[in-house]
Amino acid sequence: TQQFPDILSPEFAADPYSAYRAMRESAPLIWHEATRSYIVSRYEDVERAFKDGTSFTTDNYEWQIEPVHGKTILQLSGREHAVRRALVAPAFRGSDLQNKFLPVIERNSRELIDAFRHTGRVDLVDAYATRFPVNVIADMLGLDKADHPRFHRWYTSVIAFLGNLSGDPEVIADGERTRVEFAEYMIPIIRQRRENLGDDLLSTLCAAEVDGVRMSDEDIKAFCSLLLAAGGETTDKAIAAIFANLLAHPEQFAAVREDRSLVDRAFAETLRYTPPVHMIMRQTAQDVEVSGGTIPAGATVTCLIGAANRDPGHYKEPDSFDIFRDDLTATTAFSAAADHLAFALGRHFCVGALLAKAEVEIGVNQLLDAMPDMRLAEGAEVVEQGVFTRGPKEVPVVFTPAA
Ligand code: HEM
Repeated sequence: TQQFPDILSPEFAADPYSAYRAMRESAPLIWHEATRSYIVSRYEDVERAFKDGTSFTTDNYEWQIEPVHGKTILQLSGREHAVRRALVAPAFRGSDLQNKFLPVIERNSRELIDAFRHTGRVDLVDAYATRFPVNVIADMLGLDKADHPRFHRWYTSVIAFLGNLSGDPEVIADGERTRVEFAEYMIPIIRQRRENLGDDLLSTLCAAEVDGVRMSDEDIKAFCSLLLAAGGETTDKAIAAIFANLLAHPEQFAAVREDRSLVDRAFAETLRYTPPVHMIMRQTAQDVEVSGGTIPAGATVTCLIGAANRDPGHYKEPDSFDIFRDDLTATTAFSAAADHLAFALGRHFCVGALLAKAEVEIGVNQLLDAMPDMRLAEGAEVVEQGVFTRGPKEVPVVFTPAA
């Protein structure tokens, strides 16, 4: 058996990819004492955990996310989940996305870029990626711009809570405070909005009705809280990573800059190679056979998306970033179907995948237009951070300033 560092160790955080390789090859099923979970790393096992919702439930989210978000769509199953999904999904695709939200995305991206395009040097993570998707969500919901800083603080608290694999009590307490503050802020706004519906996402959620079912104030508040993490941090890390990956491969960068139809491929390959979410948990409803053995009923399972996405049983040369690879289906405007596992699969498949794709496409296009000659700053080295979610710490670039 090969040796590999523990998933909570600094060695693992510095380079999870070689540990993933060793796990896939020689320990595809591990009992991990500190997180009290079974870890699976092969593509076929992670795919199965997402697709087989009967054997692998999301009951773990009752302790994993409920203290910070309340009860969200992620904890629901069966018909209840299907109805909730039908209530929220239309807001994130089709004419709502095209007509109402693309202008919001374009405007928010442009505002951020205008703040630095004259400078000649910027850290794309700090000045752009960490701000853009959260601003978009707050703006889509139709929240007051003056409240965006508060929204950012809650966002930071929520993602710290979700990434708190070691169980730091201060992080837990802060997350619980955020749940209370967020509810105090959001519930009155939801009530007002019901009286005065507009064109925004919050109004759409208030008005949505399927088979006579509507969402309560609490349901909508929990969904908005989930959007902070699910739609903010993930897209944030995807945008940082697409630039980190392209800048590290100048020929591919040039190809995308010259032919923007390749942004879609670059996005899909980035999600495979450097997924924003590296781990998703599930709970077994019954004993389940996976590679390497049996997981007993009632166990928590840590599914390593980051490892599955580089399984050589599924992709040729999985450790190379190659937007031209022919074994990856790029996301399409119609299905958002892609063969990597970054958006999960099955009934909880990311409901915001098309929105994320639109944000990344608009963001990448606007950034390339504003600074076509961008390159990594002299001596800069892009370092990834995070274990549960992961992305570049900084992407410092230099470019010819706009006149
Ligand atoms: C679900 C990843 C962007 C909203 C998920 C799941 C993953 C994921 C892995 C499945 C969680 C599970 O099965 O336990 C991503 C990535 C994104 C992204 C990598 C960006 C690149 C977004 C955006 C939104 C969003 C922009 C909306 C604003 C959601 C929601 C769910 C979800 C609401 C729960 C769906 C359900 O339970 O049926 N996402 N996401 N995500 N995502 Fe995303």
